[in-house]
Amino acid sequence: MKKNILITGGAGFIGSHVVRRFVNTYPDYHIFNLDSLTYAGNLENLRDIETKENYTFLKGDITNENYINKIFEEYDFDSVIHLAAESHVDRSISDPLAFAKTNILGTMILLNAVRVKWKDDFQNKLFYHISTDEVYGTLGEDGLFTENTPYDPNSPYSASKASSDHFVRAYGETYNLPYIISNCSNNYGPFQFPEKLIPLFINNIINDKPLPVYGDGNYTRDWLFVKDHALAIDNVFHNGKEKETYNIGGFNEWKNIDLVILLCKIMDEKLNRSKENSSEKLITYVKDRPGHDLRYAIDASKIEKELGWQPTVTFEEGLEKTINWYLNNIEWLQSVISGEYLEYYKKQYNK
Ligand code: NAD
Ligand code: TYD
Repeated sequence: MKKNILITGGAGFIGSHVVRRFVNTYPDYHIFNLDSLTYAGNLENLRDIETKENYTFLKGDITNENYINKIFEEYDFDSVIHLAAESHVDRSISDPLAFAKTNILGTMILLNAVRVKWKDDFQNKLFYHISTDEVYGTLGEDGLFTENTPYDPNSPYSASKASSDHFVRAYGETYNLPYIISNCSNNYGPFQFPEKLIPLFINNIINDKPLPVYGDGNYTRDWLFVKDHALAIDNVFHNGKEKETYNIGGFNEWKNIDLVILLCKIMDEKLNRSKENSSEKLITYVKDRPGHDLRYAIDASKIEKELGWQPTVTFEEGLEKTINWYLNNIEWLQSVISGEYLEYYKKQYNK
């Protein structure tokens, strides 16, 4: 079946894996990648597929209503997979309005364009919204987030994502818009901007720079390899039930400090660093992040039972692949941090 799919945020970390998967796996689909190329978006991430016939890049901002309405007039999109967002919690603490603008208003502008364009003809149409488990707030020492966990976001990032999820659902209830939402745990893998924990620490280890662990390091995250998230998105897009939510995660919880020690160990092996000169000496405990959520952990049994999705790589394999990728792509690392972000980053965090 032919499809015209608009993927937003396709030049970012997860988006680039989703675009690559759809372009390569479904030659009958035409993939339109809409991205404004903020500091986090980079067309280098898609060099290998940019000349494919079923791929078109559109440079544009989801908060630009005229532009969004124009492309919906120009191209006959029958589905949207919406990933474009401001995505980093620390940035949301220093610049919350940027998060409200892109994540809330941008999502509403897309929803509105879809509603006007598709009118009441929702046959074979879908608005698939990609969200995060952070909308559920924080867990204590035990328990897991299910699809029925009440929303309780704590950071401007998670509040903006929660708000966008609510608007998607509201458009489904009010205008009968066919939608699906998935809420995923922390991703890691190639092409992740080195502001998030794993790529930041890999980059700092390579450059012998301090590893700033927030608070006591006893915060827990549930890590999923990005290609498994892309596979889950493919599965949900094709097999998910309309107006449903799916939690995505790999049952793979790590305390930050344990993960950082493991990362140091693998990096030491790769960089031939001796025990005396271990990267662990770079670990530096720093002031905690305000409103820091203690623990995220996903119950992914619904997507497993109903859609048959499971992660394909273990954490050890995924981490190994990720570290190898960064070591083999130091130029990519250098190029993404040499732009606008570098100044911002130095000023904010002095890292
Ligand atoms: P990212 O920051 O790497 O990429 C975001 C992309 O969106 C970039 O290419 C950027 O240029 C683009 N973008 C930002 N503002 C835009 C705008 N106004 N108009 C058009 N494009 C814009 O983010 P990511 O980590 O790939 O996350 C993608 C999505 O997945 C987000 O919606 C995020 O909330 C969600 N998510 C991320 C994770 C994670 O661990 N990274 C986990 C669960 C869900
Ligand atoms: P991060 O990668 O920013 O993802 P999120 O905040 O969305 O979970 O952070 C993952 C965890 O690592 C989180 O508990 C905060 C912590 N962290 C640090 O300790 N130091 C850092 O420099 C960063 C970026 C994160």
